[in-house]
Amino acid sequence: MSDFARALAEAARQIAARLQAEIGLLPESDVRDAMAYAARGGKKLRGFLVLESARLHGVSPEIALQAAAAIEAMHACSLVHDDLPAMDDDDLRRGQPTVHVKWDEATAILAGDALQTLTFGLLARPDAAPSPEARLDLIASMAQAAGAAGMVYGQALDIGAETATVPLTLEEITVLQAGKTGALIEWSACAGARMAQADTGPLARYAQALGLAFQIADDILDVEGDASLAGKRLQKDAAAGKATFVSHLGLEGAKIRAKTLVEQAQAALAPYGKKGQMLRQTAEFVIARQN
Ligand code: IPE
Ligand code: IPE
Ligand code: MG
Ligand code: MG
Ligand code: MG
Repeated sequence: MSDFARALAEAARQIAARLQAEIGLLPESDVRDAMAYAARGGKKLRGFLVLESARLHGVSPEIALQAAAAIEAMHACSLVHDDLPAMDDDDLRRGQPTVHVKWDEATAILAGDALQTLTFGLLARPDAAPSPEARLDLIASMAQAAGAAGMVYGQALDIGAETATVPLTLEEITVLQAGKTGALIEWSACAGARMAQADTGPLARYAQALGLAFQIADDILDVEGDASLAGKRLQKDAAAGKATFVSHLGLEGAKIRAKTLVEQAQAALAPYGKKGQMLRQTAEFVIARQN
């Protein structure tokens, strides 16, 4: 195992434990069980970005773990809702039946809702940032990133694209993805700078390139990935007649674009010098991953 893989796995373990402890405090219900189920597994890449950006800014891991758990709760919410019949209608996620298949649609909707409020609850904790100002900034920027100008905006464009009479242009897909996938990734990478009330510029530039590379990799995996490794159904984009980076650029073109974006992401870390090494490796990981 590489140093990077070990660091990601250890971060994932800590973030998952923090989330499960929090969900375990809720009153017993199907919704609580579905939340715990949805929070399990996955790479915890967004939480890892929070922990790494905090480390770059000298923020303690104990503080950063709240925000790392918070973003993974929001991400889990987005996946539970993304898989619903009204959206992508998927029956497999992280190698397991999706929440609405294991329980029912009402439970999946409510579990997603409650994961979202959990996100803000975690960020509102006194120990979620070094200062009240930084804490408010985390909360406000999360509302922006997850809402109708961010993730929800991108998801709405994505759903609209399925029934569009004219396929989306590459420019339109880039806007779509900046919301759908980019906004939460950018929030994650900027979180450490926000906690330290430092300039988010370099990490925002890093994350914009990283988020795009991440989504291109998702589109490539959809075409040529191994479903048993990915843990979700593949070949869904072409079946839905969706324009993606791959449908526009071809597989090879998409891979070249993703590689260029990884280099751009890495270049944006220049102000951090050697300390940015883990985030440089993260950029390589997002296009090399099998799941
Ligand atoms: C999947 O995200 C959804 C997209 C935004 C493409 P991840 O690939 O990070 O999923 P997990 O959390 O590791 O399962
Ligand atoms: C999901 O995108 C993005 C969010 C949940 C915000 P996709 O629909 O492409 O993700 P997968 O392929 O189902 O993981
Ligand atoms: Mg989707
Ligand atoms: Mg989906
Ligand atoms: Mg996808």
